[in-house]
Amino acid sequence: MSAQPSNGEQAPLLPGGGPSINRDQPVRPSVRAIIYGVLTAIFVVGLVVVSVFWEEVGGIVGSLPKDPEQAAKRILEIAPVIVGAVFVVDGHIDLPILVRERYANNASAFDLEKEMPAHVDIPRLRKGQVGGFFWSTFVECPSDEAVGKEFLNSTWRVRDTLEQIDIARLLIDQYPDTFELALTSRDIKSVISRGKIASLLGVEGGHQLGNSIGVLRQLYLLGVRYVTLTHVCHNVFADSCGMQPGMIPRWNGLSPLGVNLIHEMNRIGMLVDLSHTSDDTARQALQTTKAPVIWSHSSARAVHDVPRNVPDDILAMIGTDAPDQVDAVVMVNFAPFFVADPGNATVQTVADHVDHIADIAGKKHVGLGSDFDGIGDTPKGLEDVSKYPALIAELFRRGWTRFELAGLTGRNLLRVMDGAERVAQELQDLGTEPSYAIYDKRTDIGRRVEL
Ligand SMILES: *[C@@H]1O[C@H](CO)[C@@H](O)[C@H](O)[C@H]1NC(C)=O
Ligand SMILES: *[C@@H]1O[C@H](CO)[C@@H](O)[C@H](O)[C@H]1NC(C)=O
Ligand SMILES: *[C@@H]1O[C@H](CO)[C@@H](O)[C@H](O)[C@H]1NC(C)=O
Ligand SMILES: [Zn+2]
Repeated sequence: MSAQPSNGEQAPLLPGGGPSINRDQPVRPSVRAIIYGVLTAIFVVGLVVVSVFWEEVGGIVGSLPKDPEQAAKRILEIAPVIVGAVFVVDGHIDLPILVRERYANNASAFDLEKEMPAHVDIPRLRKGQVGGFFWSTFVECPSDEAVGKEFLNSTWRVRDTLEQIDIARLLIDQYPDTFELALTSRDIKSVISRGKIASLLGVEGGHQLGNSIGVLRQLYLLGVRYVTLTHVCHNVFADSCGMQPGMIPRWNGLSPLGVNLIHEMNRIGMLVDLSHTSDDTARQALQTTKAPVIWSHSSARAVHDVPRNVPDDILAMIGTDAPDQVDAVVMVNFAPFFVADPGNATVQTVADHVDHIADIAGKKHVGLGSDFDGIGDTPKGLEDVSKYPALIAELFRRGWTRFELAGLTGRNLLRVMDGAERVAQELQDLGTEPSYAIYDKRTDIGRRVEL
């Protein structure tokens, strides 16, 4: 829009010589002329400013295109410029396990600048206005037989986890114009403000800790910022919900060591991730934690009834209103199996999960955790990381404001990370001791009486 010479229309109001056009009013012409003159000047200057800075002003004051697709694109576009506005920070992306299984962790065997086989590569991340994501450093659960009844057999899971952290960090370093490791919520904002994709690390299951809280601390030092308490198997810390109904519990929630694990996670600032956990594990974790928690990739059970989704009674425990509520963000999973009946997962049904979590827990407690590269098929309209704007557009159409959308796509997670970082600082300032708890079934450590 250009500065139209609409000021021309105001000419009769400008003070001028000759007979006044308002001679029927008994106001002194000079005063009136000054007032009109000042008003006109303000109007003209305003018009020029608005026309010159229309794009920026539009972005800041919230004037958005009427068409939802255009509005979503616009909301996401301004994000890198105005930190704190909308950008997508995804809670769970499985690129590292794809690289392990397909390329044996050889970073020379593929190019993230080109089209990758599944859902994630740099061109599509850019198209989807992604500001950051957690790289899941997942490795699979050992079989029940391999790990043994008491979880005591060695399983190579700690080695494999280190290999996944290694490949994630190698890739982040290999594309320095695109990715940058982020360790704090402040890092995320700073990386985004420099036009890059904030890269965080998450470990997807207590089975990756080798039954050891010492391993947890070392993973933190390697840059890991969340640990999912379980994957699809129970482990020495907690019960999983499995994948199908009817998983028989082992601990009826958290084990005693699991309680210690959460205390230590709170103390060091490792986010507690409750995706994949049993309902009892999740409830007890919410009662145990001193810090805000996340569900890195889980949807709503009331919308689609599978164990991996979060039930309403647990969603109701989330919040900041009542003293017994815990601040949290549930980051919605796109996996069709969790979203809808076979063949029915679409961008609209994913939006239904977002809306439902927002209804029960509040709009400040929902986020996005796609599970891209970790799922076989995808919802219609959300085929890969380039498609987040379609979901933003759908929610915008349903009445979500751009501020609410900014929360959904990133700010809610940043608030929760801020909270966890603050709690860790407070616990450390209080001189809270590290946890020295050892799994009580272990006989390989601390059992020697004679020296
Ligand atoms: C890694 O992949 C590249 C490209 O395919 C290949 O030339 C190289 O030999 C691979 N390295 C190893 C150690 O397999
Ligand atoms: C795992 O440990 C159990 C004891 O709990 C043992 O009987 C079994 O042979 C072990 N399995 C393997 C594969 O080592
Ligand atoms: C998909 O949803 C529609 C409408 O809700 C329903 O009629 C249809 O049976 C569903 N399809 C499948 C495959 O479940
Ligand atoms: Zn998962």
